[in-house]
Amino acid sequence: MSKIVIEGGKKLNGALEIDGAKNSILPILAATLLIEGTSEIHNCPVLSDVDVALKILSHLGCVVKREGQCVTVNCQNVNCAEVPHSLMREMRSSIVFLGAILARTGKAVMSSPGGCELGPRPVDLHIKNLKILGAQIEEDGGFLNCTLPEGFKGKEIYLSFASVGATENVMIAATLAQGKTIIHNAAREPEIVDLADFLNSAGAKIFGAGSNTIEIIGVDKLHDTSHKIIPDRIIASTYMAAVGICGGSITLKNVIPAQLAGVIDVMKQTGAEIFAREGILKVSMKKRPRRISSLHTQIYPGFPTDSGPPILAMLTKARGTSVFVENIFQNRYNYVDELKRLGANIETEGRVAVVEGCSRLSGAPVRATDLRGGAALVVGGLGAQGITTIDKICYIKRGYADIVRDLKMLGAEIKEE
Ligand code: UD1
Repeated sequence: MSKIVIEGGKKLNGALEIDGAKNSILPILAATLLIEGTSEIHNCPVLSDVDVALKILSHLGCVVKREGQCVTVNCQNVNCAEVPHSLMREMRSSIVFLGAILARTGKAVMSSPGGCELGPRPVDLHIKNLKILGAQIEEDGGFLNCTLPEGFKGKEIYLSFASVGATENVMIAATLAQGKTIIHNAAREPEIVDLADFLNSAGAKIFGAGSNTIEIIGVDKLHDTSHKIIPDRIIASTYMAAVGICGGSITLKNVIPAQLAGVIDVMKQTGAEIFAREGILKVSMKKRPRRISSLHTQIYPGFPTDSGPPILAMLTKARGTSVFVENIFQNRYNYVDELKRLGANIETEGRVAVVEGCSRLSGAPVRATDLRGGAALVVGGLGAQGITTIDKICYIKRGYADIVRDLKMLGAEIKEE
């Protein structure tokens, strides 16, 4: 089992390109199932979660080719409607395939994704709203047995929470539906807009993505397309946190600064100097970060829950005490005990974490507990004096193609062993 080894305490300087967004590519790969032809996808990150999504597509009968960051998927001959349990277990967000498989084959069988490291992750909103569009879904012994007797039919959908995954599933299901679907209280994340752009480039009629009302006029079929995935705003925010804790000056290329507004605002409050222009973000930190009096994770365009762990790790070395409130997931603080091994002072209760900044962290052996929690440990290790080794880095690889390569480009002493 490989580990990441960091010799912390060094300033970061340098430039790097940010990879394509994991949270965009996964629903877009699911959506390729709607196209009885070829989708060419550029800027596709090389991630274990993407491998799982490609395995699902191959299992369903699609022909998948990958050359570096370009993936071609041909879904002409879909001949299966079942996602194996082993693949569902590897990636909870495989539920986003449900609407696509149903739309394409009229049936679907998959295991219910259940919980994960972040706590219970229900899929009730996915199921309820696909049912409204015409799916029949039976939950039986941990499996979802689904049929679509009369095809999807456009309807008005009211999401009780602006769930990213449920919005995506409904958008995909509605694309080839009969009639018009309107999603009220839709998620507004940039990845939703990327999914709409992909589907529209193939002939779909989706309007309003990025706002809280999305209108989808069903079309009969989609055609071949080519699409470039947006950059990963969570990876960018991780490296912003890294320079925040280490000091130095870094340039992130292939970013969309407007999509990082919530994080940029927080970084500025901590004392970072930020220069943004089209596609580029320069982040400099000259002193120890300042505290953040209170930071609440929110749905977009608020501060993203996935950027919380790396930013919290940065604030362990802030001057003063910061308060975090996690509003999206129940169980996001599993990594905190590991950060404490580096000497961080953090108390958690329920959704709240109180981080008392200290002037020095010390390297220690730690273990990643989940994807973004793992990224927090990398940030903590970079800011700690001495050697930090991080175990269970398979979690980190789900969302960072090569965090070691990236941080080396910024001058960090980091390696994978
Ligand atoms: C997506 C992202 C994830 C990010 C999250 C919130 C992907 C692959 N993952 O996850 O990285 O952290 O958005 O920005 O894009 N919920 C329900 N019932 C449902 C669905 C969700 O109660 O049917 C709850 C969840 O338990 C959670 C909250 O809603 O507490 C947010 O979930 P959601 O927006 O659906 O996140 P995901 O799409 O799973």
